[in-house]
Amino acid sequence: MTEFFVIAVDGPAASGKGTIATGLGRAFDLPVLDTGLLYRAVGVLTHRAGEDLDDEAAARAAALTLTADQLEDPALRTRAAGELASRVAIHGRVREALLEFQNTFAQQEGGAVLDGRDIGTVICPDAPAKLYVTATPEVRAHRRWKQLGGQGEEVAYEDVLADIRRRDARDGGRDAAPMKPAPDAVLLDTSEMTIEQAADAARRIVEAARARWESSR
Ligand code: C5P
Repeated sequence: MTEFFVIAVDGPAASGKGTIATGLGRAFDLPVLDTGLLYRAVGVLTHRAGEDLDDEAAARAAALTLTADQLEDPALRTRAAGELASRVAIHGRVREALLEFQNTFAQQEGGAVLDGRDIGTVICPDAPAKLYVTATPEVRAHRRWKQLGGQGEEVAYEDVLADIRRRDARDGGRDAAPMKPAPDAVLLDTSEMTIEQAADAARRIVEAARARWESSR
């Protein structure tokens, strides 16, 4: 049993997991780490250094220089950064270099919320609350397309859908920590839900997990 109340929120791109994680952080008064930003930062740093994204050693070197303040860079939120992230995320030694940052965050007094692809399976396998948030590729592409438009990044819906499908295949098909639900994760399909409904459903799932965790201590 963990001493920290860690909430693991995994799922594919634009499933709503980020908004859900933020809502859970507020509801349970816990800090939130969007681990996708770590991979986005490594992808962007590797690219800016003029290195090949397929070069594991170069991407690992970028991961080792990463600092928390670099995660604030708005360039990490772009469509291009998502693609760069999923390319460097296939490297086992990049993932290994990002472990300590994530473990330190997870082991804070009181606990933490982490969202990503492998939180419930690899980073925090003992987390007392695990969610795997999904939605159909079409629904996710529509959400991401609206979000990118809101950020001033005009792009065709079909292109966003193609990005999502490519990223799902790469993230789910890689050897190192592939995206998949932990056996004990609760699946939450948000395809037919508003973001408020999804956040409410997530909160109820975590309240039940928290009650179980407290009674087992
Ligand atoms: O969640 P987000 O879309 O920002 O993640 C960007 C990419 O980073 C993902 O497509 C995935 O390849 C990678 N990632 C990962 N493991 C995590 C979080 C993100 O491999 N825990």
